Amino acid sequence: MSGARESVHGMWSGRFAFILAATGAAVGLGNIWKFPYIMGENGGGAFVLVYLLCIVLIGIPVMMSEVLIGRRGRQSPGLSVKTLAQEASSSTRWQIAGWSGLVASYLILSFYAVVAGWALAYVIKTARGDFQGVTAEAIGGQFDAHLANPWALMAWSAVILFVTVYVVGRGVHKGLEKAVNFLMPSLFVLLGIMAIYSASNGAFSEAVQFMFTPDFSKLTINGVLLALGHAFFTLSLASGAMIIYGAYLPSNVSIAKTSVLIALVDTAVAMLAGIAIYPLVFQYGLTPAEGPGLIFVTLPIAFGSMPFGTFFGTMFFVMLVFAAFTSAIAMIESTVAWLVERKGLNRLVATAATGGSLWLIGLLTVFSFAKADWATFELNVFGKPITNFFEVVDYLTSAIMLPLGGLVIAIFVGWVMKRKITEEELQTSAAVYAIWRFAIRWFTPIAVIIVFLHLIGVLDLLLRLLGV
Ligand code: TRP
Repeated sequence: MSGARESVHGMWSGRFAFILAATGAAVGLGNIWKFPYIMGENGGGAFVLVYLLCIVLIGIPVMMSEVLIGRRGRQSPGLSVKTLAQEASSSTRWQIAGWSGLVASYLILSFYAVVAGWALAYVIKTARGDFQGVTAEAIGGQFDAHLANPWALMAWSAVILFVTVYVVGRGVHKGLEKAVNFLMPSLFVLLGIMAIYSASNGAFSEAVQFMFTPDFSKLTINGVLLALGHAFFTLSLASGAMIIYGAYLPSNVSIAKTSVLIALVDTAVAMLAGIAIYPLVFQYGLTPAEGPGLIFVTLPIAFGSMPFGTFFGTMFFVMLVFAAFTSAIAMIESTVAWLVERKGLNRLVATAATGGSLWLIGLLTVFSFAKADWATFELNVFGKPITNFFEVVDYLTSAIMLPLGGLVIAIFVGWVMKRKITEEELQTSAAVYAIWRFAIRWFTPIAVIIVFLHLIGVLDLLLRLLGV
């Protein structure tokens, strides 16, 4: 029952195609690379708990809102929001909600492509047997050596971006959809195997204790913000993707059911990744706060010693690259759709220009990890040390832009859009609608605002003034 609008870029063939693409966007490096290491840096259990609450109470409602905006607006994120604002006779300034998503996913992709490049390099290292019979220490050393060579990192990220540009620019999604069909389930199974292997060969009980026993003394306000931001990151929210994918969604598909399904799969993958990694971390005396290298220095230890390790390891990194790749496609799509709609650029030219500029910005990340002097420094942002450009881009997007973008989306859908329209678009039971509407009007805005006020110290000041 969406309005009469149609997307100029085409439509999904149905519910399943949308679920695959949206899950492909959601599941990626965020689940397997980022979640385990930020959990480790932020003390484990309490962080996980806050993250899970954020997924359920904020992530799912915001995802529904974004898909709704896209399906109603049928354009790239900024223009969709603008159209809906006009429909609600409100200020077109609300379109900022869409544009900030576009900028965020552009910035995220600049480092995402670099990390996907690491995974690609690791396909070859694993296949070559580099990790066979090597000590845990030597495996760590290999990763450091890998990072220390900026030329290789530049080349690997160029390969990732080139393939992304090729697929998106030529619109050859068909073959990719087929591949994803089979690769996503395989990734799931393989992660399951890794989890079982490391649970039975590693320090499983210590890992479970670390991941699932909340110790709130280890959680700082920055940790809470990062858990919130990561809930957005991992579900690809406030980054345009769910709006643009919603724009291609047929009108008869249930937005509520598909959103819950996507969030469930995404969370399951993250948890499996944690269980695959942490028993090894404790078994081999590595520290949870290892940082962005965590999976690259733990999983190869398992691949080096488990039966058929070379085979499993190679498959694992191949799938990780694919998972990253389906996310990269979604990240570049908003910018490309916008350049095509508004600037009238040819699709291939638009994509190539975007990819090329991303590679250049990605150099900030490459040289951050290569520890170039100009790319490393010391900053303190609300108590969190930030030491290089990668961390700047990551913090700016995940911790600041995504939660604030989500806030604006929640206010727009909950307070600006007419109730009748959101009801019509969600087409769900009265109870589900009521819960969603409450979450989006009250819970999300209040939670995000409180976290930010606390972060900048205003909340504590207020509480003190009130004598609490
Ligand atoms: N969700 C992706 C992951 O977990 C990362 C991501 C963030 C993303 N924003 C996005 C992917 C926008 C696609 C589009 O890896």
